[in-house]
Amino acid sequence: MSLTFSETVTGSVTDGVLVVTIDNPPVNAASADMRQGLHAAIDHAAAAPEIAGVVITGAGKIFVGGADIREFGKPMAEPLLPQLVNHIEASGKPVVAAINGAALGGGLEIALGCHHRIASPAAKLGLPEVKLGIVPGAGGTQRLPRLAGVVTAAEMVATGRMVGAEEARRIDVIDAIADSDLIAQAVAAARERAGQPPRRTGECVIASVDQEAFKKMANKVLARARGQDAPEEALRLVRSAAERSIAEGMVDERATFIRLRDSDQAKALRHVFFAERAAAKVDGLDGVEPRPIRTIGIVGLGLMGSGIAVAALDGGYAVIGADMTAEAAQKGRERIVALLDRNVASGRLDADGREKRLARLTTSGRLEDLADADLVIEAVFDDLAVKTELFQRLEGIVRADAVLGTNTSYLDPDVLAAATKRPERVVGLHFFSPANIMRLVEVVNCAKTAPDVLATALAVAKKLGKLPVVSGVTEGFIGNSIFSAYRREAEFLLEDGALPEEIDAAMEAYGFAMGPFAVFDLAGLEIAWARRKRQAATRDPDERYVEIADRLCEAGRFGQKAGRGWYAYPDGKRTVDPEVTALIEAARTKKSIVARRIEAEEIVARLLGAMAAEGDRLLAAKIAQRASDIDLVLINGYGFPAHKGGPMFAAGRV
Ligand code: 3HC
Repeated sequence: MSLTFSETVTGSVTDGVLVVTIDNPPVNAASADMRQGLHAAIDHAAAAPEIAGVVITGAGKIFVGGADIREFGKPMAEPLLPQLVNHIEASGKPVVAAINGAALGGGLEIALGCHHRIASPAAKLGLPEVKLGIVPGAGGTQRLPRLAGVVTAAEMVATGRMVGAEEARRIDVIDAIADSDLIAQAVAAARERAGQPPRRTGECVIASVDQEAFKKMANKVLARARGQDAPEEALRLVRSAAERSIAEGMVDERATFIRLRDSDQAKALRHVFFAERAAAKVDGLDGVEPRPIRTIGIVGLGLMGSGIAVAALDGGYAVIGADMTAEAAQKGRERIVALLDRNVASGRLDADGREKRLARLTTSGRLEDLADADLVIEAVFDDLAVKTELFQRLEGIVRADAVLGTNTSYLDPDVLAAATKRPERVVGLHFFSPANIMRLVEVVNCAKTAPDVLATALAVAKKLGKLPVVSGVTEGFIGNSIFSAYRREAEFLLEDGALPEEIDAAMEAYGFAMGPFAVFDLAGLEIAWARRKRQAATRDPDERYVEIADRLCEAGRFGQKAGRGWYAYPDGKRTVDPEVTALIEAARTKKSIVARRIEAEEIVARLLGAMAAEGDRLLAAKIAQRASDIDLVLINGYGFPAHKGGPMFAAGRV
């Protein structure tokens, strides 16, 4: 018999066990209707003598994706999530969570309120609330440490890290992994426990805390949190779980959750969450099928190409890496192997995973060996003649339906495409270095790119675990256009009176890991210098132009690698260099500028304003589809602090 508890929660009785199914697409979020339905299902079981226990599961591929983020900021209907979880835990009849897929945030909290947890092998569990600028609000900070211990739980809550079923079992967050039939196993578990006192997570005693291990973990987490409030609060709440009753802990947790939920950081991070989902929706691609891609060819196995190769291997593709000579290809192969080895050393990859990846890799010094590739990505020297010749040669080698991707940062891919016979198969795939780590890929929609080629590039980037953002063609695409505006304004600030160290300090206090001048030094100053020299002939003489960076380059100060740039680097440590200060002062004198003191607030406002103004230009020119896409590019490619929402959000453009 089928029972209906609400629009999103139904039940059926198997073997005397009430199997409750949450069906609230797309992610079975804990909406008001879902909470009411689940509450009613527990009540129903309590009142029905023929029911021995309850199993809770989710329809589809997800258990419960968390609280309904769309309800945040609106009045919440009862039962609130913590009330629901307490109600489940208080049930006198055994409640078993059959975790069929992702159990995240409020979803894991519901599972923690159950008396027994069985997960399918593909399930993912975690409390990712900090990524939304909040802490769990339904007992997660109090119940997780009762199962996993304080140190492990605190690390998971403060970083939002998800664990797979295997790890969840190892750290006692779940009791079993299902062999085949998850529901049958969960029903059997409920039957076995019928009539016995339920094991309530909230009543479990917390194991003693290893203070040293906690301190070490907390320092690491806080170093990465840089100005975000939620990770620190998460650490505090989990740690104090060992020192007080669960009831007290939950009151504190809820108050903290509500305070953070209404904070500017949480608003910004919610914007980022929805921005990521919006970025996947690209105009003109509705119903367009990507081409099937199994083998990816990569030409040029330098730093960038080998990073892309590792990303492609991680994504499950067969990879053919090609370079101009057998020797260069062999060097490339060694680079790829070294990257894989580094992942093994850091524990990110196991030996088996390394072997499987290497089995899918071939390298060659002959372009002809790319004949089988479904997609070829070039990552050769950023020179139009070199890339044009390469694409023309590739045309004679690859199939007519193979896609050609260019990783150029500054060249015009329309010019490159126009030099080929089938410009519709050319697309930009602008990776960021190191390409196996950085999440951003600008997918460049060229003038002639066919919709299914664009869809293919997006699908491949997604499969590599990347965040693809579509950009139109303009010099530097979205990211480097905005970054150029940022650089220009930073240099204006220099002339007006601020020093590099003051500008960097202001931006680092705002939330950037590194201020602009430290970044310029890290990236090296010579590429921008070469561009400025190229542009010199066509530059408007009335346009404000700051020469200080040119003076630096002329003095051989090319940045950190050269040991000197905007800063000096004795023993590798960033240090203010009086020689640079003197250069800046001389440049001001030459233009008769009287330096004035510029406060951090003005520095931040001007740099953000410059980025947002350039963003406005990109939107007007339809280079970017939406303001939130620009925010994603800056956050994921240029170190803009996510908890500020990106330059467009911060400037009130969203
Ligand atoms: N609430 C509301 N909508 C949500 C949601 C949520 N928790 N999670 C996802 N969605 C929406 C997305 O916005 C998207 O909507 P759209 O189709 O209109 O763009 C749709 O569901 C599908 O999402 P994805 O594209 O992300 O789907 P995937 O299948 O790729 O991933 C997922 C599924 C792993 C569950 C992923 O959506 C996810 O990570 N969600 C967020 C999980 C999370 O942060 N949970 C914690 C919430 S806060 C909380 O629980 C507080 C509690 O402690 C009180």
